[in-house]
Amino acid sequence: PTPTLIDPFQRRIEYLRVSVTDRCDLRCSYCMPKGFDGFHEPEDWLTFSEIERVVGAFVRLGVQRIRLTGGEPLVRRDLPELAARLSALPGLTDLSLSTNAVRLDKYAAALKTAGVRRVNVSLDSLNPERFAEITGGGKLHKVLRGLDAAHAAGLAPVKINMVAMGGVNDDEIEDMVAFCAERDFTLRLIETMPMGDTGRNATGQYLNLQSVRERLTERFDLIPDILPGGGPARYYRVAGSKTTIGFITPISQHFCETCNRVRLAADGTLYLCLGQDNSYELRPMLRAGASDAELETAIRTAIGLKPERHEFREKPEKVIRFMSMTGG
Ligand code: GTP
Ligand code: 5AD
Ligand code: SF4
Repeated sequence: PTPTLIDPFQRRIEYLRVSVTDRCDLRCSYCMPKGFDGFHEPEDWLTFSEIERVVGAFVRLGVQRIRLTGGEPLVRRDLPELAARLSALPGLTDLSLSTNAVRLDKYAAALKTAGVRRVNVSLDSLNPERFAEITGGGKLHKVLRGLDAAHAAGLAPVKINMVAMGGVNDDEIEDMVAFCAERDFTLRLIETMPMGDTGRNATGQYLNLQSVRERLTERFDLIPDILPGGGPARYYRVAGSKTTIGFITPISQHFCETCNRVRLAADGTLYLCLGQDNSYELRPMLRAGASDAELETAIRTAIGLKPERHEFREKPEKVIRFMSMTGG
């Protein structure tokens, strides 16, 4: 039988999010702190070989799905090479990527060849000026080109991640539904989370998605749907179209009781919950020559530290790290 990782709340951990960099080529208002520049890769980042070892240990422990995140994962040099090494691990069934798609045009085909199956793309506005404002100068046409490239390369299904912000982009939600329906993309609306100062500053624009769902049911017939994967979104099929809308509602209706995931940061810290600081450092043991068995034992110990749930509502000041450190 395949081994399984079970946390203290009887949840099966079968999904690992791997952040390959905390840098990004955009500056979304709710995510990245200012002054995070630089091109050299710090000593404390795990090398591809070290990431491969950690992921290999997780896969032997029953994790079947890996998502590469950042910051922006495509700013890490030679990312397709890492993808190829990970997708070759026996037992892995789903390798995916969360990206802003600015550089996807260049990388989509190589990622597909390397075994990446699908991409989730952040896109908060279809208006070029507004897109630039939200992202600190991003160019919308690059993202649109990246999406075309993902489609052409067969990276599917594409999911569009839209952080829904009151007074910022909430007037574009219906347009975004139409945009996704035309292209067969899945749309996910996300509630702003108070991650780091940037995330907390953005909570003034927090939009309760329950009200958005009610608003959308006036225009569309929404039929509850289940998509494979057990992620945080609750899905509805839009009757008469090929699109599905997912609502990611950590604040208004959290989903921690079905949590199936942990996160590896670029420096080898394993974070057990997005909304809590509980963590376990894997880098020291990797660099001290730990065996595979020792690595697996450490991972089991770490899973034992996974907290029950986030406290974004009760203690919004609690999470010190920025979203860009674990890529959501
Ligand atoms: P799928 O595998 O396609 O379902 O991806 P995903 O939704 O798990 O990943 P993605 O990177 O696209 O994340 C979408 C949004 O969900 C981001 O805002 C993440 O921060 C958020 N998210 C993902 N996992 C969790 C989680 O465990 N807890 C919370 N609170 N938010 C999460
Ligand atoms: N709250 C909610 N979602 C966020 N993301 C980044 N920062 C936040 C935040 N503070 C989203 C991005 C991306 C995904 C991985 O996380 O939009 O789509
Ligand atoms: Fe899991 Fe923590 Fe996210 Fe809740 S906030 S779903 S416990 S990672």
